[in-house]
Amino acid sequence: MSVRPVLRMGDPLLLRVSESVERLDSAQLRELLVDMRDTMAALNGAGLAAPQIGVSLRVVIFGTGAPNPRYPDAEVVPPTVLINPHLEPIGEQLEPGWEGCLSVPGMRGLVPRYRQVRYRGVDEQGRTIDRRVGGFHARVVQHEVDHLDGVLYPMRITDMRYFGFNEELFPDQQLQDD
Ligand code: NI
Repeated sequence: MSVRPVLRMGDPLLLRVSESVERLDSAQLRELLVDMRDTMAALNGAGLAAPQIGVSLRVVIFGTGAPNPRYPDAEVVPPTVLINPHLEPIGEQLEPGWEGCLSVPGMRGLVPRYRQVRYRGVDEQGRTIDRRVGGFHARVVQHEVDHLDGVLYPMRITDMRYFGFNEELFPDQQLQDD
């Protein structure tokens, strides 16, 4: 039950391919999820992947169920725990959108993502999750699942002119530092 430090880009742990979760009933997984929720809430993140707190397991959480202060204009995404996710695009249409990451504090970049995706996995009770989503929800899932494969959003930016510090890119907005 604690807010854990979030690893920042440059830490080699963020570049590892994470391992599948074998057991859903372990104390380790329960504690990991508590720490992930506490950490994401404390930092107002839209999502968090286990590797960001140094745990190389295929676990992500995302969504808030309420407007997120870091993404005030984004649609609401249901609070979700997604374990051992499988992600596939629906169609080939890509859409650029601004992203930030708690592991890349103070910055934003314009990242192309699939407009619609289907994702599957289980929650911590072992219930199947199988959703077709679009827009911001699809973007968040793609961003978080990328973390499980050691991919950070700057690696996806196709035009580096659209990568920079929050205050320079959006001087009129009071975006949080991280
Ligand atoms: Ni991230």
